[in-house]
Order: sequence, then C-alpha cells, then structure tokens
Amino acid sequence: MPKKTVKDIDVKGKRVLVRVDFNVPLKDGVITDDTRISAALPTIKYLIDRGAKVILVSHLGRPKGQVKEEFRLDPVARRLSELLGREVTKVDQCIGEEPKKAISQMREGDVLLLENVRFYAGEKENDPQFAEQLAELADVYVNDAFGTAHRAHASTAGVARYLPAVAGFLMQKELEMLGEAVNNPKHPFVAIIGGAKVSDKIGVIENLLNKVDTLIIGGGMANTFLKAKGFNVGRSLVEEDKIDLAKGLLQKAAANKIELLLPDDALVADSLESPTAIKTVPVEKVPEDYMILDIGPDSAKKFASAVQKAGTVVWNGPMGVFEQKAFAGGTEEVARALAESHAVSVVGGGDSAAAVKKTGVADRISHISTGGGASLQFLEGKELPGVAALQDA
Ligand code: 3PG
Repeated sequence: MPKKTVKDIDVKGKRVLVRVDFNVPLKDGVITDDTRISAALPTIKYLIDRGAKVILVSHLGRPKGQVKEEFRLDPVARRLSELLGREVTKVDQCIGEEPKKAISQMREGDVLLLENVRFYAGEKENDPQFAEQLAELADVYVNDAFGTAHRAHASTAGVARYLPAVAGFLMQKELEMLGEAVNNPKHPFVAIIGGAKVSDKIGVIENLLNKVDTLIIGGGMANTFLKAKGFNVGRSLVEEDKIDLAKGLLQKAAANKIELLLPDDALVADSLESPTAIKTVPVEKVPEDYMILDIGPDSAKKFASAVQKAGTVVWNGPMGVFEQKAFAGGTEEVARALAESHAVSVVGGGDSAAAVKKTGVADRISHISTGGGASLQFLEGKELPGVAALQDA
C-alpha cells in the first residue's frame, strides 16, 4: 500500500519532526561516509523551502540507552550544515525543556537537530510515554529513515500514533525502487545473494524463490549449498546445521523451475588472516586443508552473463571476503557486471553497497539502498514497522 508523503500535507509554519537515519560511520570523530546525510537532503530542503520548522531526530551507533560522548550528533550537525549551506542548531536533549525552548525560537525554514535518540532507553523499548514526549515537540511527523524502518522504536514507529505521519522522499524512493524490483520486476529477474552465512539470508532466499527467474548464490553461504550438493569444501566456512535446509532450498528452486547458480570455481587459501598460498580450483577439487574465500573467474563470468541478460537485478551480499584485496575480485566483478547491464539494478545496502562504491560504479546502479538490515527485511517480504506506522495514501 503506498504511503502519504510530505507532498500530501501542508507544512508551512508547522513544526515537522523528521526521523532521519544519520547513523554514519565515524573514525576519530570524523564522518567517513556521509551518504546517509546527503540522501536525506531532498526532504529537508523541501521542508525548508515550504516554510516548515524542521526538527530532525536520528540515532547513531548503539549507545544502549545511555549518554556516550562518542555517539553525540555534533559532527553530524556540522556536516549537515555544510551540505545545506545554512546553520543547523543542535541541542543536547531529545525531549524536555531544552528542545522545547529551541523550537519555540525557530523561524520558518530553520533546521534543528536533536541529540542521539538512543541515549534514551525509551527509544528502543518503544515506550509510549517517550514517543508522546517526542510527539509533543511537533505538529507533523515525517519518517525518512528507511535504514531504521525495520526497528519498531519510539522515533520510528511509536511517535506516529500521536501525530499525522507521512513518508519523506528517501523513504518513498526506497520503497518504490525495492518494491518495483521485488514485486513488479522486468523479467528475467535475477537475484544475487551472498555474504557469509545462509542463516542470515534464509528469509530472503525463501521469498525470492517465489519471484525470480534466476537465483545466484555466492559468498561464504554458497559453501553450505556446495556441501549440500555433495562437494567436499575442505576447511571452508560451512553451517553444518543448515545443510538440510540448503538441500530443501535447492529442491524448491528445481520444483519452481528457477535457475539456481552456484560457483563452479573458487579462490582458495590456506588461511584467511595470513594466506601463504592462494589458488583457483574447481569447486569439486577444493583441497582438504584449504578454504574458499572468493568465487573464481569462471563463476564470475557465469554470474555476469546472467546479469547481462536480466531485466531486473537485485543484489545483496558480497561474493567473498571482499574487505581483503586478495579476495575482493569476485565481488568487484559482480559490481561491474551490474553497472554494465541494462537491467534495473538494485543493491541492498551494507556490504554490497560498500563494494559498489569501492569499485567506483555506484553512479551506474539504478538504486543503492541506504538500508542494510532494513533492505534485507524488505527482501524477505516483511512489512517494516516504520513504514506500517505511516498513513496510507
Ligand atoms: C543501520 O545502520 O542498519 C541502521 O541505522 C540501523 O541501525 P541498528 O542496526 O543499530 O538498528
């Protein structure tokens, strides 16, 4: 069901509480990737231009309901101020007198950033009283935090009970792009699922097996499928307790007449931390004392060729241990294949988004989600609490 957006409401002169996901990576207090801040700008600018009083609320990290200096939002306020080219006032609380006073002094078009909302235990607990205290600050609630929409917290879901609640433009774009890809894809629809563990992606695979034409499985999780098919994968990471499940998924794919592609060859090494020997072998010949750490070149070619023929591609999870240069090749090949294809390409956040950026092809991907866990839950076909709480269009 589509949701109302900021365009459906009158915001002039109103106090608008906007939940954003400014959970950005920081190193020594410096933001190393401001994608999530930039991604929220269209909504913020729209509200400024329409004369709203813009009150932003976000979490940063997992401070567990306590004030932790390293998780204060001051660096975020500074970066946002630079990106907007205007002053962003930051307050050190989310509720109570300090924000109330600052808000009472706001003029139309002003922007205020509240402190890290996870400094309050009530946030994660979705405490109704805390949600109501947040709601007291505003006339309208806008959720633009797709990255946190899978959390049923006070600022993502609870607050929507007390205020008219609509989606921001980033939220709308994410829901449209992911939604179209999964529920109304241009065929052939190809999904590439990777990452270390099958257990993290069971829901995604099960949901996609009802939708895709081709399912590509790479990354550490492919080992469990290879083992389920009877291959010996040496010392590779395998989830022994998921072998039967993998067998079931292989059977389901066959029954649904879905092409399920696994790696044919792999990059193997004697150690992950300090490999002294790395070689490419067919998956049926993984030496006993080696482990699979990336897909091999033949597999990369096979996967790329499926992507080339696709109408829609959804990608979630790397093909190998891409943080290490020696094992990043397969993931980079897949990123390049996506960039070169004419398909609608959607990358579910987290590691695959990082890989696409690292490979330098981000601008050739139709949509890179700002959500990691949220996009995964979306791909599982589940409704996200932060979305469910918004008004239907
Ligand atoms: C994310 O980075 O995936 C979101 O900001 C949610 O963060 P969380 O996993 O700490 O809830």
